[in-house]
Amino acid sequence: MSDFLNAYSIQTWLESCPQGYLENTEFGHSPGAKEPALILENPTVREESIGATVQLVVGERCALAASSGLINSAPDYPSKRFLATQTLDEARHVEIFTQRLFDLGVKKDELEEVIKVHANPNLVKFAEVLLEKVDKGDFLAGVVGQNIVLEGMAFSVFEMMQASNVDLNPKFADTLSGTIADERRHVGFGENRIGSLLREHPEKKPEIEKMQKDMTYHMLATFADSFRGSASAMQETRRIAQAAMPEQKSHVWHGTDLSSADPAAMESVLADTVLKEFKTRLGRIGLEYQQPVRP
Ligand SMILES: [Fe+2]
Ligand SMILES: [Fe+2]
Repeated sequence: MSDFLNAYSIQTWLESCPQGYLENTEFGHSPGAKEPALILENPTVREESIGATVQLVVGERCALAASSGLINSAPDYPSKRFLATQTLDEARHVEIFTQRLFDLGVKKDELEEVIKVHANPNLVKFAEVLLEKVDKGDFLAGVVGQNIVLEGMAFSVFEMMQASNVDLNPKFADTLSGTIADERRHVGFGENRIGSLLREHPEKKPEIEKMQKDMTYHMLATFADSFRGSASAMQETRRIAQAAMPEQKSHVWHGTDLSSADPAAMESVLADTVLKEFKTRLGRIGLEYQQPVRP
């Protein structure tokens, strides 16, 4: 347990995160960096950016509720302390993505309404499945739902968004890089802590696998809604990106060129990448991935 204690201590968190990759940042990006004019000045692209950022806020609010809610049901102090650091990470993620909504022109008094209008109903259901376990004080299911399923998904979504924004919007790409580093730490904790607990409680497996299947269904439905509904906004974003940066390089992510692939190809590379991660990570903790029907 001593490696575990070190890797997930508050001291390690302080050194690697606030005093490490977040040092000298402002809301996760370089101080003073702005959203590019080509997003702010194009109503279609601006609206699309607001819609995508709302999903990030919804996901991070769920992660904040889950990581803080799990502290009291954690069976040992190292896990409680880690979850306390994770709670602060998730609160920061909520803050920086909310700040992005303000940077995109959302007024402070419209925030909750904008979130309500844009939040994908499937993502809301995904969060409800997880938070039901957390509210019952089910530590094992809660950690699998949060640190393997939710964060495995978030990790790949952020990576894909980071790769598509790196030239077009360095401010947003930087914000994402810091969250990716945080999520990597969170996913690692889930794997390391849960494997041994599951060996002690094999009777919990069927219920946890059912939760994973339900969450995976809502996740795939969320991806389907976002990509299938965004074809015209995607085209518009590429058109202005091309006009602004004719020399733009291609951005290949897991074999798919994100600057030219159609929405169906984008959806499938994201879904395949996340599901592959799920299978590997669940396998490492002794769970068998459960495939839901494809929405
Ligand atoms: Fe997060
Ligand atoms: Fe996280």
